[in-house]
Amino acid sequence: MAGPRAASGLPWNVACDALGSYAGACTYGIAPTKRPEPPVLPELLSWEDAKAKAAETVKLMSLEQKTSLLQGSGWVDTQWWFDLPRFFYVGNTPAVPELGIPSLNMQDATDGFRTYWTDLKGTVTVWPSILAMAATWDPTAVQDFAVAVGKEFRGKGANVILGPGVQVQRMARNGRSFEYLAGDDPYLGSKLSKAYVRGVQSQGVLAVMKHWVFNSQETNRGTENSVVDPKTARELYFPPFEAAIEAGVGGAMCSYNKVDGKYACSNSYILNDVLKGELGFEGFVQSDWWAVHEASFLEGLDQEMPGRAPELFLSPMNTSRHPERVDDAVTRILAAMNKVNLPETSSCSPPNCSEWFVRNVTSSSHQALAKSLAAESIVLLKNQDGLLPITNASGIRKIAIIGSVAVGESYDPAGAGQGLGMEWFSGDYYSGGGSGHLTGDVVKTLHGLSARAALENIEVIASPSNNLTAAREAAAEADVAIVVVGATSGESVDRPNLQLENQGDDLITAVANVSSKTVVLMQVCGAVLMPWHEGVGGILALFLGGQETGSAWASVLFGDISPSGRLPIMMPESEADTIAPSEEATIVYSEGLATSYRNTSFKATFPFGHGLSYSQFIYSDAQIVECPYQFTSYLLCVKSAVMNNGTRPSRTVAQLYMEFPPEAEQPVAILKGFQKTAILQPGDSEVLIFPLTERDLSYWGPSGWTRVSSAVAHLAESAKNFGPSLQIELPTVDSSPSSTTISSAQGLGLGGLGVLPVMALGVWAL
Ligand code: BGC
Repeated sequence: MAGPRAASGLPWNVACDALGSYAGACTYGIAPTKRPEPPVLPELLSWEDAKAKAAETVKLMSLEQKTSLLQGSGWVDTQWWFDLPRFFYVGNTPAVPELGIPSLNMQDATDGFRTYWTDLKGTVTVWPSILAMAATWDPTAVQDFAVAVGKEFRGKGANVILGPGVQVQRMARNGRSFEYLAGDDPYLGSKLSKAYVRGVQSQGVLAVMKHWVFNSQETNRGTENSVVDPKTARELYFPPFEAAIEAGVGGAMCSYNKVDGKYACSNSYILNDVLKGELGFEGFVQSDWWAVHEASFLEGLDQEMPGRAPELFLSPMNTSRHPERVDDAVTRILAAMNKVNLPETSSCSPPNCSEWFVRNVTSSSHQALAKSLAAESIVLLKNQDGLLPITNASGIRKIAIIGSVAVGESYDPAGAGQGLGMEWFSGDYYSGGGSGHLTGDVVKTLHGLSARAALENIEVIASPSNNLTAAREAAAEADVAIVVVGATSGESVDRPNLQLENQGDDLITAVANVSSKTVVLMQVCGAVLMPWHEGVGGILALFLGGQETGSAWASVLFGDISPSGRLPIMMPESEADTIAPSEEATIVYSEGLATSYRNTSFKATFPFGHGLSYSQFIYSDAQIVECPYQFTSYLLCVKSAVMNNGTRPSRTVAQLYMEFPPEAEQPVAILKGFQKTAILQPGDSEVLIFPLTERDLSYWGPSGWTRVSSAVAHLAESAKNFGPSLQIELPTVDSSPSSTTISSAQGLGLGGLGVLPVMALGVWAL
């Protein structure tokens, strides 16, 4: 069997310091017990200074120079379709060299520099999808990822990344779930989108948050009309966008759909009043590609992409009658450029970027980081009787690796990579389809696992197809049967259902009927149904893991690291436990906040936030405290210690859910904090601080954001696995908590998930 992929050229004990700050980065070798501080990123220019500088430039510009920045260039209208010539990026605006204005060179985004042209394959890293990054529940990991992606963009001459996607998932079948960093939750999305924006922009690459707004499904995405009430909008869907704004994001991409009857890119309320007004966004709004169908210039759109609808946007009437609007839009674009220093750092202007396009920007340290990030994102959903990890020492001599996904090819259409005219929306089991797709040289699961098994002297029986007879035979011969299954999806099409592809359910059932030690590895684009979950010993999920998929699985399965991913989305028990895409012209989000774990009638096979490790953790000493000096702008802090009470070095993700009084009209306790520990050695503890802001303790009511007067904080290991709870009293608005009382600790049941209960230890006292 093939050894570890030679392309990475890395020994198993790769040096930790090559991998950035990330605590989980050393998948081999000695695990650090202290969490390293994330690297200090360079300060970006303030918006005030960036805008002042832009205003000076605007004074020197002709109308023609100004309007050149407001519309995309490069794409050619072939009468049949728009075509992208070689050495143009997916989005472009021309440079104005005499004024020191660089071209904007924009490229997608989801799991790295989009391999639009086939010859880009192998020159960039195929990173895990950003949904997989959400499954790390680790802002430091996301920041490291974003810094590395930013470096690759710069290396390719690009200075704008068309991401991150930060839409909170409304429906499990959304074809673009894998492209969204928020998963099911606004708080998770906020923390991670902030880390992403900071990381990318620190590299001199402008980030564009997308898709603003309520672009929850791909079905009829170009025409459907989303209607969302103000509370749901502000509590559920806006927060990750707000967090990106707080982190200084330069661009926002408006979406294809309508909002309250007006296209999002032409909707003055959504663009001018909410985004630029209420949320204080200072950067520029760019249309999604070909998304302008109505007048949009005065409505708040600043840049039309890729440059096809001048009559609706930059008509001479608009520019001559509204010079102040032209200047506003140009100032916003230039200010965003200044904020990340693009005039000083940009490298080339299309079509003269050929030298940059062909560069190889991946590296052995990026490959190693891609492996460790993918491994950190793996969610161990079930591990009955400690079946995993697999080691020779535990008596396992033979494993079977079963299923066609174990040798799945990456989707790499001939011609223009993901160019138009092919099934451009198709994905594979490493990277989803559409504008987020990357193709590359992947470590397939069979190869990654086989290479690692060889190091343990464990024999591999391979059955890399979905043939049931062959699968049963292989399973019967082995000590452990590993079944590899998948589901993928892509832009512009929602999934027809939540099933595994190619009769994956039948394959698992056939194997589980033969082997009591069946482990299921799922390479999936989002939620899947698991009707067979009670009949197997182990289940793990990897949300499209990129090029290092096979080696990441190996790290976790063979115990080189203990898994520490957590579900960023709920795994529903049935299709009825989700919201389905709608064919209606107008889609009213009538469920309000009640999506995912917030819907008390939805049943989960595995809840939001769930994930196991190879160890167990106990929590003690939970308290409400005054925040330490690092958190002075916070209202109060919840503190708790967590100890590794098992036998293997592991990380856990402690979660904090807040239950508000009835006037807040929140269906359940909602995530308001999470902390991923360092790798704790057995017996080691970490003190965790969950800082809470005024906003964290507020709800959207008839008079805007209103702070609650009391709340119950639950420490938890998932949305359905609560431990100690603390009662918080907040008597008056705008004062520090004058008193806090603490209820008795509770250890709740675990719904048969096999996690040790969160235990309350010690005295619950202030
Ligand atoms: C997608 C955007 C993407 C753009 C440019 C559109 O189809 O919706 O997310 O950034 O294309 O490729």
